[in-house]
Amino acid sequence: MNAPLVATLGLARHYRTGRGVLRALDGVDLSIDRGETLGLVGESGSGKSTLGRTLVGLQAPTHGSVLFDGADTAGLRGDALRALRRRRQLVFQDPSGALNPRMTLGATLREHLRVQGWTRAAVRERVPDVLEQAGLPAAFAGRYPHEISGGQRQRAVIARAISTDPDFIVADEPVSALDVSTRAQIINLLRGLQRARGLTMLFISHDLSVVAHTCRHVAVMYLGRIVEVAPREVLFATPRHPYTAALLSAVPVPDPVRERQRGRILLVGETPDPSSPPSGCRFHPRCPLASGICAQVDPPMRSLAPGHTAACHHSDKVGSVEAVAQAARGLTALG
Ligand SMILES: Nc1ncnc2c1ncn2[C@@H]1O[C@H](COP(=O)(O)OP(=O)(O)OP(=O)(O)O)[C@@H](O)[C@H]1O
Ligand code: SF4
Ligand SMILES: [Mg+2]
Repeated sequence: MNAPLVATLGLARHYRTGRGVLRALDGVDLSIDRGETLGLVGESGSGKSTLGRTLVGLQAPTHGSVLFDGADTAGLRGDALRALRRRRQLVFQDPSGALNPRMTLGATLREHLRVQGWTRAAVRERVPDVLEQAGLPAAFAGRYPHEISGGQRQRAVIARAISTDPDFIVADEPVSALDVSTRAQIINLLRGLQRARGLTMLFISHDLSVVAHTCRHVAVMYLGRIVEVAPREVLFATPRHPYTAALLSAVPVPDPVRERQRGRILLVGETPDPSSPPSGCRFHPRCPLASGICAQVDPPMRSLAPGHTAACHHSDKVGSVEAVAQAARGLTALG
């Protein structure tokens, strides 16, 4: 049995804003098994990056906990905390913003390793090595970020992340700032590194088709909560949360007849304000399957099959994109 490397319990991260308390994460229970890549999808503002940053310790939880290798990370100090920093790393969305424009790639890598406690001699050996592992010539140590392409910059960011030999990487939209031809190369690089090093990974994307190529398991996030988790094939074939079905309905399929049959679920209204989430199920104002109970009672996350959980009172009525698309058409017809 594979034990989780990373897990959260009732994880919340709130921000105080002019409009009150913004609940970017509001009770997230999640676990990622060692060596697995979990895809995390959801609309803009659903809390994906906040979850990623909290999992690597760049920000502290407001409530709840992050467990790493079975230990609550909040209790770690001194050497244990330094070791943990080395073991979990973040790859940012925008490689331009993630690299200091005034430092060569070599200087960036050296600084990163020195901060993590590596000796000068070990750093000297390590830098060319990690550049090559990330698919860059060792000579690129002397280049500045503006002297290389966007894809090469993202490789440099990945080199920095793997330089400390981490166990866990959060890749936050690692290809969304890149052109289409470079995307596949960076995804292949990440997959290759993941396999070669047995890395555990959280792969964040708002694009389900990118996640489908990259991750064996997928978690779907809506307004600060995880609403469904399943193995990729199961999620694509039999989604059990209407929000997942809506996201899937926007993924293009090669067969136009099949795409027409499947139908498109257009969600009504904007994503609600995370400062005042709707009562009961937070998806109810936009959900084609909502009934009376949905506005009153917050649906708990329920286990539906091994590795498949969803938080919906009516998950038995979902089961496919078509079922939810049909309900959505019914609503439109009634309206
Ligand atoms: N430092 C902050 N202060 C206040 N609010 C914040 C802060 N960081 C994030 N938020 C808010 O928290 C919510 C979740 O943001 P987050 O960036 O995690 O979403 P996301 O799912 O990553 O979105 P995107 O797909 O656009 O990257 C949003 O409403 C955002 O405005
Ligand atoms: S609980 Fe109700 S509103 Fe929420 S997703 Fe399920 S059917 Fe829709
Ligand atoms: Mg984000």
